[in-house]
Amino acid sequence: MTLRVGILTSGGDCQALNATMRGLAKTLYNCVSDVEIIGFKNGYYGLMHEKYVKMQPKDFSGIIDQGGTILGTSRQPFKYMRVIDDGFDKVAAMKKTYKKLNLDALAVLGGNGSLKSANMLAQEGLNVIGLPKTIDNDTWGTDYTFGFQSAVDVATRYLDDIRTTAQSHSRIFVVEVMGHKVGHITLHAGLAAGSDIILLPEIPYDLDVIAKKIKQREKQGKNFTVIACAEGAISKEDAKLPKKKYKAKVAARNGQSVVVGLGEDLQKLFPAKEVRAAVIGHAQRGGAPDAYDRAISTRFGIEGARLIMNRSFGRLVVLKRGEVDSIALEDTAGKLAYVDPEGKTVNNARLMGVTFGDK
Ligand code: F6P
Repeated sequence: MTLRVGILTSGGDCQALNATMRGLAKTLYNCVSDVEIIGFKNGYYGLMHEKYVKMQPKDFSGIIDQGGTILGTSRQPFKYMRVIDDGFDKVAAMKKTYKKLNLDALAVLGGNGSLKSANMLAQEGLNVIGLPKTIDNDTWGTDYTFGFQSAVDVATRYLDDIRTTAQSHSRIFVVEVMGHKVGHITLHAGLAAGSDIILLPEIPYDLDVIAKKIKQREKQGKNFTVIACAEGAISKEDAKLPKKKYKAKVAARNGQSVVVGLGEDLQKLFPAKEVRAAVIGHAQRGGAPDAYDRAISTRFGIEGARLIMNRSFGRLVVLKRGEVDSIALEDTAGKLAYVDPEGKTVNNARLMGVTFGDK
């Protein structure tokens, strides 16, 4: 009997999506005598609207080092999944496609929102497994998500490059690093690039503390500073605001990065210096996966195939203390993995003089 497996990549892309699908597909082709893989185009959209391709083994060859996703992706927010649009019931449509294609399993490569939807489909009775994708590394229950290390590499190189120009011009730079609501990429890239000031959403900053560190650096003869600043970094003042008010304040920025305002504030405090703001942006999700991500995503993909072959559904493949494993999708759905402000990575960095802008 043919084993029919659907596969989709959902949400923001990242490096190693292709490497993960390759690991999963090659394992299934290798272990199951009769297998058909259906690739849904542009994530859940393809599952809703029956946009798919019947994949061939050759489609998964030569893609381990290719960025992006051969299937395409799109954002289909979880909060709208159960909303009926012009009479179109998305959940019913996805179930219908799954049944029509006679699928035995569906593999979802996705981050937090996509995994919530995967969990919802599992609860609706579909045989779903998840694979933890996101540069943000904020999926609860796994030490690492694929894409994270490659994004850290890009951000680190960018911070390194900014350092040389900052040094030449004796400037202060505030550099925005991606990560949505969490600071993992900023923390790791900041440490890797040797930043003395690292600003994370999890640790609200005080402008005076940042200014003090810049002055301390100047006293040490360091006429430049590169601040690694997470896109979700927040001041102590703003952190005290009710959620609604803070959201309105962010909306009023009209998409402008946090580093712009922070740069302006620092310029006022250091009128004699030149302050610049820079945003790394989507390059952090682009290009080839690094060696770590290729290896880990291959291992994730193989484990995903193993779960399918063992008919162990409703599970998310994770990495735990260096080993691949799996947890229940319902255990991770709706939870975020934040940087621990009291964790050893943060506290040890403080020991060598890194400031997180709080004290
Ligand atoms: O979740 C990945 C991520 O790159 C975040 O770090 C960032 O906040 C967001 O996606 C950007 O989303 P978009 O691609 O929709 O601009």
